[in-house]
Amino acid sequence: MRNTRLFASLLSADFGRLAEQTAELEATGAIDGLHIDVMDGHFVPNVAMSSHSVAALRGRTRLPIEVHLMVTDPAAMAPSFVAAGAERLIVHAEATPHLHREIATCKALGSEVGVALNPATALCTLEHVIEDIEEILLMGVDPGFGGQAFIGSVAAKIAAARAMLDARGSRAFLNVDGGVKPENARRLSDLGADALIAGSSLFGSDGIAACTGRLLAGLRGSE
Ligand code: DX5
Ligand code: ZN
Repeated sequence: MRNTRLFASLLSADFGRLAEQTAELEATGAIDGLHIDVMDGHFVPNVAMSSHSVAALRGRTRLPIEVHLMVTDPAAMAPSFVAAGAERLIVHAEATPHLHREIATCKALGSEVGVALNPATALCTLEHVIEDIEEILLMGVDPGFGGQAFIGSVAAKIAAARAMLDARGSRAFLNVDGGVKPENARRLSDLGADALIAGSSLFGSDGIAACTGRLLAGLRGSE
């Protein structure tokens, strides 16, 4: 069994109680980091969160913060998120014809860098930048909204990414974002994920502690 970690996407949180809910997530002891979804209404058909939210949260939690930039121009936004306290920026390969340059721009700001791939984007897109990044983020859904179902064909891409990283001796993390549920967490872990990003499954009606417990049980339990 892999020691797959859990990151919390705040997209499905109650935005009126963001600090409180972040504290609840941290108090479970089961969450290894916060995943902040940033949407510009252009790269994805939705708008969400800004560097102001990151700055506010940074002062209120010890959890590491990674910022998932679902935006058309990640390099333009990167400085404000690094200044706000994000430890890692994740850019989308689909957002730019100059992926290497985007990665270098984020690195020059002192940030760790991840690259996200949409479900339809081939893994080989990353072949020539693997040595430059700390994380591959494989999207289990088409980005833009929380609460969607995991797209089954991404499973094979997770396994292929695991094999590619292991074959190259890479220490980049392989993370999966979107559609993570108690029912599929163990399978995603077994396929080779280092971390699962969970949003809606952490913010169900019976509260964060119960939801996190269920997800953790799914992750550690048998299939
Ligand atoms: C999708 C976001 C994800 C997503 C996770 O656009 O990048 O982080 O909100 O939410 P769930 O777990 O509900 O799919
Ligand atoms: Zn995300």
